[in-house]
Amino acid sequence: MRVITIIPTYNELESLPLTVGRLRTSVPDSDVLIVDDNSPDGTGELADKMAAEDSNIHVLHRTGKDGLGAAYIAGFEWALAKDYDVLVEMDADGSHMPEQLPRLLEASAAGADLVIGSRWVKGGEVVNWPLIRKIISRGGSFYSRTLLGLPLRDITAGYRAFKRETLEAINFDDIESRGYGFQVDMTFRVAMMGKRIVEVPVTFVERELGASKMSGNIVVEAMWNVTRWGLGARWKKLTGKK
Ligand code: GDD
Ligand code: MN
Repeated sequence: MRVITIIPTYNELESLPLTVGRLRTSVPDSDVLIVDDNSPDGTGELADKMAAEDSNIHVLHRTGKDGLGAAYIAGFEWALAKDYDVLVEMDADGSHMPEQLPRLLEASAAGADLVIGSRWVKGGEVVNWPLIRKIISRGGSFYSRTLLGLPLRDITAGYRAFKRETLEAINFDDIESRGYGFQVDMTFRVAMMGKRIVEVPVTFVERELGASKMSGNIVVEAMWNVTRWGLGARWKKLTGKK
């Protein structure tokens, strides 16, 4: 099973080497692809240096900040063109503990088409988040779960393992979400295809270095899309249209 962990970066100069170092130690068999959006702080150059020293590390440079979803799609396309079997999503800031990646990979090997590292199932937790972030995350998952009719607790999670075939079945041109709503978008599509989604508990640790890129716009985009998709799916059911 060939695994690659895709790490999108925008101004993660301090965090990136720590996260990649931990990942290389915890799961030496996983290759790494860093997708940098031309970070002004020089994260892209640092990534190049790391890649020059370790042939299992690769870097994809993009021209400017274009959102998490667009960065992941570019990373998926890069990795699918090679012979990887499992494609992992991981944040650069250490929030997704590389030491817990084996849990995700076990669930993937056991047959999950998509594994979600979940904060909101039994055994999962969030460390050092202010109450407002907890409310947004739990509220966002609750809203998405209800509107989209998905039996999942952590729909916006960004720690994931996709089987290659799962991603091959998705037409990336259809994905409209730029921001973190991308995660909901992908979950909904995978679920609609009748694929197997498994949540495994993880400990999400808030970053100690750098700053989050989460913004009000990102939340609004995600809520708006979820509302549209949810109502669209209901309408189709009601009218019997495909
Ligand atoms: N290339 C690129 N381009 N990377 C980006 C961009 C972008 O426009 N925006 C964010 N990133 C990268 C960050 O550098 C980081 O590695 C990762 O995406 C997550 O960004 P954060 O800003 O640290 O996200 P967060 O901690 O607020 O949000 C977490 O929770 C979200 C909601 O559950 C993450 O785990 C998200 O993945 C998750 O969707
Ligand atoms: Mn973060």
